[in-house]
Amino acid sequence: MLKPNLSITIGDVTLNNPIITASGTFGFGREYGEYIDLNQLGGIAVKGLTLEPRLGNKTPRIAETPSGILNSVGLENPGVKAFIKNEIPFLTQYDSKIIANIAGSTVDDYLKMVEILNDTLVDLFEINLSCPNVREGCLAFGSSKDGVYRVTKAIKEIAKKPIIIKLTPNVTDITSIALGAQEGGADAISLINTITGMKIDIKTKKPVLHNNTGGLSGPCIRPIAVRMVHQVYQTVDIPIIGMGGITNLEDALEFFIAGASAVMIGTYHFMDPYVSEKVTIDLLKYLVDNNISDIKQLIGSLILHE
Ligand SMILES: Cc1cc2nc3c(=O)[nH]c(=O)nc-3n(C[C@H](O)[C@H](O)[C@H](O)COP(=O)(O)O)c2cc1C
Repeated sequence: MLKPNLSITIGDVTLNNPIITASGTFGFGREYGEYIDLNQLGGIAVKGLTLEPRLGNKTPRIAETPSGILNSVGLENPGVKAFIKNEIPFLTQYDSKIIANIAGSTVDDYLKMVEILNDTLVDLFEINLSCPNVREGCLAFGSSKDGVYRVTKAIKEIAKKPIIIKLTPNVTDITSIALGAQEGGADAISLINTITGMKIDIKTKKPVLHNNTGGLSGPCIRPIAVRMVHQVYQTVDIPIIGMGGITNLEDALEFFIAGASAVMIGTYHFMDPYVSEKVTIDLLKYLVDNNISDIKQLIGSLILHE
């Protein structure tokens, strides 16, 4: 059998394979590049960028939970200009696509960042409408269909790269929000971001995180993420990038079967820095062993019970 086709296309950009590292869990790739071959990845979604540098929230900002973590990092990042100067030259050495994850407090913030990044070698924009850990944050746009529609449309009008709209799971009906993104002109949807949670220190009676609440991620959220990908797949026609608790090939396959065209791997990097490379290698082997010539044959292949 010929080598199976693993490539997927978002807008006019084709990724060599559908395994992408999730924003905020892989930095700008430098540290992980010491462990794995970054060329093996379909894409790298970089840490969420803001117009100005941010120090993030006060510590403690990570707490362990059963099968996951709560984080309230609060978008610590060097700012978009430092990213362009210091990180893009490093990332362009590799075949994997560069996905700039963008966060803002106002629609204007997003538009300014897109303008600044339009003429760089970034391949795709991932618009984070879901950051739960920033008080003045973007969650305000991400939790209503109309908010998502408006910000997506405004960005799409000026963006020179395909746009992926990243959705928050902290909503009542994920499908209407996804429709807002599609109607606004999104090239793809990524989901899920973290689920808001709290952990309490019973001795002090205070929350463990200084921010009081944080975003839950890791294997504990995977069933929720798979369910949401399934629901969104039944609602929209644009590609879906699924994530939430992926630790190995089997987990990734659940997302493809539910309807994801690509997956992102996040928190598990903190347990195993090789995980994304391993899943990429294992996926190719799985397709060969099962005589599947194209990853697209798997996407949305779910058979529901009658
Ligand atoms: C420490 C940490 C930082 C994160 N920072 C961002 C971020 O800057 N932008 C973003 O869109 N998502 C961010 N996320 C969310 C992840 O990209 C991902 O959506 C979520 O963690 C679910 O996937 P996982 O369970 O595989 O980690 C962050 C997650 C963690 C754990």
